[in-house]
Amino acid sequence: MSRVLFVASECYPLVKTGGLADVVGALPLALAEAGTDVRVLLPAYPEVLDKLGEAVEEPLPCGPVLGEEGRLLTATTEAGLKVIALDLPRLYRRKGNPYIGPDGADWPDNQLRFGALSKAAVDIAAAGVGGWQPKLIHAHDWQAGLVPAYLAASGGAAASLFTIHNIAFQGVFPATELPNLGLPDSFFHRERMEFWGQISYLKAGIAMADKVSTVSPTYARELQSAEFGWGLDGLIRHRGADVVGILNGIDHSVWNPADDPFIPAPYKSGAGKGKAANKRALQERFRLAEDPDAPLFCVISRLTEQKGMDLLLANLQHLIWRGGQLAVLGTGEPALELSFRQAAALNSGRVGVTIGYDEGLSHLMQAGADAILVPSRYEPCGLTQLYGLRYGTLPVVARTGGLADTVIDANPAAIQIGAATGFSFAPVTAEALRHALDRAVLLYRNGRAWRAARKAAMRLDFGWAASARLYSDLYRQIITDTGRTANGVRANGH
Ligand code: ADP
Ligand code: GLC
Repeated sequence: MSRVLFVASECYPLVKTGGLADVVGALPLALAEAGTDVRVLLPAYPEVLDKLGEAVEEPLPCGPVLGEEGRLLTATTEAGLKVIALDLPRLYRRKGNPYIGPDGADWPDNQLRFGALSKAAVDIAAAGVGGWQPKLIHAHDWQAGLVPAYLAASGGAAASLFTIHNIAFQGVFPATELPNLGLPDSFFHRERMEFWGQISYLKAGIAMADKVSTVSPTYARELQSAEFGWGLDGLIRHRGADVVGILNGIDHSVWNPADDPFIPAPYKSGAGKGKAANKRALQERFRLAEDPDAPLFCVISRLTEQKGMDLLLANLQHLIWRGGQLAVLGTGEPALELSFRQAAALNSGRVGVTIGYDEGLSHLMQAGADAILVPSRYEPCGLTQLYGLRYGTLPVVARTGGLADTVIDANPAAIQIGAATGFSFAPVTAEALRHALDRAVLLYRNGRAWRAARKAAMRLDFGWAASARLYSDLYRQIITDTGRTANGVRANGH
């Protein structure tokens, strides 16, 4: 059985700011079913300590991490997830967002906070925790990007896979930090982690991991272009066949309309009555006109440029003019938050906005809305459209990344064979979104076609089982290949 250590900065249900947490909280459970023994290493933020429950205390396997004293806490969550919380009080005992301080700026020592996370993972690989030692470390996003660097610097206590969830967040810091991280000066090199005169944690992960993955096949291809590669497309092209795209899945035990504690009327496929009752509850919650026939669109999202929220704002009046309603839940860029607040104030009864983060409300929205809008400029995978499909809430999406891989556009041919599950548009412009909204409203008005699409959407299975098999095959392949590296057989090692 392969032993794999996940390393990430968030993990549902312990701490979550976005889709990364959902993936890190669910994939290990599916991997366990496929026969892989996974533990998740994450920082012991106050929130994590609160939710961890009964834990066993272990010493840091190789002593202080980058000079920081602390301990490890191992525990198993209610869902069965095996967690190792890295408790370095000076770095992690801070309330609030994992990345951002109360002044709205990044914590000034994030380079150390997440450098230490990676270093601790490599210490666990070298010396074990409670007798458990991973063969492979699966590092996620820039916060775990130094895992392959520490492995390379220390002679490789384990094999590594690095997953890019979003290439726009890179963890770039001054090169003068390198000695504080205990990494050799030679890593300040364009084939290691130098990036325009600074050091990049994301680049370190991509350049030095045994293999690199990302969260959808289309994003894996897009990343190789200048438009989507954010300055790292050349390196990704260079890594060639070492880069693969594996689609994210969803956790059916958390996202299940037939058994969801957050919704007033659970429902199965067919949806009809249950959805109508949830729609009423949602309209009430957002103070929208209680109109069962108005197509109700929702957004559950970070309110950022990535997510195309400006394109939606540009279409707001049009949506209302077509008889639609809109419910928005999100936080993000202050200017966008303000615009959505103003839109709600000016269009009461038609537009409702909640600025904030609310897991339970997000479930009610998936259950009660008719459609979910995801007009992202780029989207590595995207999970809200997958939850939408499962809840019979048809996604209206930009045709990019994982959105392109998961939604079947309701074009005439797809409608004819009953395959349509949503609406996709390209290019990602306000005009193309408007056209997609028009098509959605039109299909909604044709009740029977809408119900058929809803049924097709709910029939899809985007659970983790298939992707977990792909990951476990990949782990096996990496472990075998790096075994060969150790014997000096592989020619292109690094
Ligand atoms: P990203 O990770 O880029 O933000 P994803 O679609 O992969 O996008 O994942 C977003 C996750 O965060 C989903 O689980 C979504 O339901 C959740 N989410 C986003 N914003 C909010 C919010 N304001 N309140 C509750 N959940 C949210
Ligand atoms: C990132 C991406 C999102 C993806 C999530 C989980 O936050 O922006 O598209 O679904 O990671 O992989």
